[in-house]
Amino acid sequence: MSEKLNVAILGGTGMVGQRFISLLENHPWFEVTVIAASPRSAGKTYEEAIGGRWKMDTPMPEAVKKIVVRDVSDVENVAKDVDFCFSAVDMSKEEIKKIEEAYAKTETPVVSNNSAHRWTPDVPMIVPEINPEHAEIIEAQKKRLGTTRGFIAVKPNCSIQSYAPALWAWKEFEPTEVVVSTYQAISGAGKTFKDWPEMEHNIIPFISGEEEKSEKEPLRVFGHVDGDHIEPATSPKITAQCIRVPILNGHTATVFVKFAKNPTKEQLIDALVNYSGEPQKLGLPSAPKQFIQYLTEDNRPQVQLDVDFENGFGVSIGRLREDSIYDWKFVGLSHNTVRGAAGGGVLCAELLKAKGYITKK
Ligand SMILES: NC(=O)c1ccc[n+]([C@@H]2O[C@H](COP(=O)([O-])OP(=O)(O)OC[C@H]3O[C@@H](n4cnc5c(N)ncnc54)[C@H](OP(=O)(O)O)[C@@H]3O)[C@@H](O)[C@H]2O)c1
Repeated sequence: MSEKLNVAILGGTGMVGQRFISLLENHPWFEVTVIAASPRSAGKTYEEAIGGRWKMDTPMPEAVKKIVVRDVSDVENVAKDVDFCFSAVDMSKEEIKKIEEAYAKTETPVVSNNSAHRWTPDVPMIVPEINPEHAEIIEAQKKRLGTTRGFIAVKPNCSIQSYAPALWAWKEFEPTEVVVSTYQAISGAGKTFKDWPEMEHNIIPFISGEEEKSEKEPLRVFGHVDGDHIEPATSPKITAQCIRVPILNGHTATVFVKFAKNPTKEQLIDALVNYSGEPQKLGLPSAPKQFIQYLTEDNRPQVQLDVDFENGFGVSIGRLREDSIYDWKFVGLSHNTVRGAAGGGVLCAELLKAKGYITKK
């Protein structure tokens, strides 16, 4: 029997689900053995269920083609065959909350890409390089759920990954106010140009719910474990505008920051490039060697050149310069479906396995 942990992908036919399946091909610790989606796909082989919907640049892994897709709602049937699952289903928030909790109650940990549980007080929202210690709250959650090994952990929204890592790397300089505009790729809506032709040569100045997430989620990630809940940080204050742009993969952010201290440009750049966290220390399989790179050229970071930095797990920062109203301004870029979605989930699961929260059943 394989030593690898068997994993189910809930929502495995969607954009994020496909990214999970691609990233987990030949993963040293995890093996996709179950794929679940809506009743529309259930009963078909993965290859048949996907039909013409494969959206990755790399071919569909052979190992998953013949897996018969199960129904996400058939919780016991999916959970019995796996050690844990990744969740990337698109249902209503209430339905997702219920179904993820149902999986956790079958003693099957859930690492979720969805926003439904991001503000459940005892569910950790983890960026492994920033707040790995939030995993400690899992004990309180298990007590509430009445489980011994089942729990839910989530990763934050894709939009924050292009600037929150820099703000965290600069915490010693105490960022107090942040103004951010995000320029977000269409894959963040689960779409390609084929399914969303109106996005060609176009910009849409609205992404439902995204500005609130961009302003609030960094504070929960920067918060601390306080008994039975995560207490969000109260600083910096963040205000955001989120714009959809005609880019397939890669969220760019332009950011203005005020600090309580007065860092120099050299100090800020040093803090970025020297920052590393638990994934680097533990040598997790998907951990980028360099979490944040700083690019000195005036025309970087660019989506075409930089989105795949560290296989899409790294964050690129550039154009750091003094501002006439705020203290400093910069541009950030991250891969929204790798670092921002499935990759962030895989790295989170690797961290939880390394810390003993996810084990063989
Ligand atoms: N795309 C991103 O970059 C990104 C980033 C962060 C978070 N997210 C979140 O991740 C989730 C998935 O996003 P996506 O872009 O991958 O969406 P998507 O491409 O539309 O895929 C949705 C998935 O959910 C399944 N599904 C839909 N309705 C269902 C139902 N009633 N019961 C069971 N399964 C159902 C679909 O199965 P069928 O194929 O059978 O319909 C499919 O597998 C969403 O909650 C989204 O907000 C996405």
